[in-house]
Amino acid sequence: MEQHNLDLTRLPKHIALIMDGNGRWAKQQGLMRVRGHEKGAKAVRQTVEACAELGIQNLTLYAFSTENWKRPKIEVETLMRLLVSSLRKELKTLQDNNISLKAVGALDLLPKSTLAELNEVIKATENNTHMNLTLALSYGSREELLYVFKKVASEVNNGRLAIDDINDDTIHKHLYTHFLPDVDLLIRTSGEQRISNFLLWQIAYAELYFTEVLWPDFRREHLVQALQNFQDRERRFGKTSEQL
Ligand code: FPP
Repeated sequence: MEQHNLDLTRLPKHIALIMDGNGRWAKQQGLMRVRGHEKGAKAVRQTVEACAELGIQNLTLYAFSTENWKRPKIEVETLMRLLVSSLRKELKTLQDNNISLKAVGALDLLPKSTLAELNEVIKATENNTHMNLTLALSYGSREELLYVFKKVASEVNNGRLAIDDINDDTIHKHLYTHFLPDVDLLIRTSGEQRISNFLLWQIAYAELYFTEVLWPDFRREHLVQALQNFQDRERRFGKTSEQL
């Protein structure tokens, strides 16, 4: 691994990544959009390996949003196919790096074959402990929160929960991401500075990092830059500097 000045005792426990710019990368190269996604899948592999090497415990990738279903059919099919082939190809990498694959989102909307492959890899890696790699698939944060609110409302309705007892933990335990800590660092590539309905509850105190790099060009060095930037910031969680 190349040189870096990171303090490995102060790494974010949870990184969330909005992998944006595959389409623009392809356009710049005069290629079809799907080529951008293929190249993007390679960047995923390198980023996952780099995070595992550094000791990041939780990495969550925005791989497909609820809104992405509106893209042309051919692009949606390609993304699903790419997902299945990447899962098949990378199972060994996940096992070698002791990584546990998870998925969050409205997974029942995925094509049956995609879901079957996904579940197989999730099952095969469920006892791995070095890192959680969570794919947000058919994911939208408002959809997730509506699901949570309905669950909480039904607990209140059937008398198992008092309204006054509803707190942060009540919400957290019903989130799709209930097995993950809050996000410490959110990275978005391609120069867009938006959250796009990603982990709205979970990023309450996250540091936000935006880079101009298009996702297919994202490499280990860009991850290290983001981490360096994270470590240069002071996280106060609402307190004053003196109280920390
Ligand atoms: C955003 O680029 C990217 C996506 C919608 C999909 C992300 C998918 C991958 C990186 C590939 C496969 C993933 C895995 C987990 C193997 P965009 O198409 O919105 O780019 P644009 O804004 O430039 O058009």
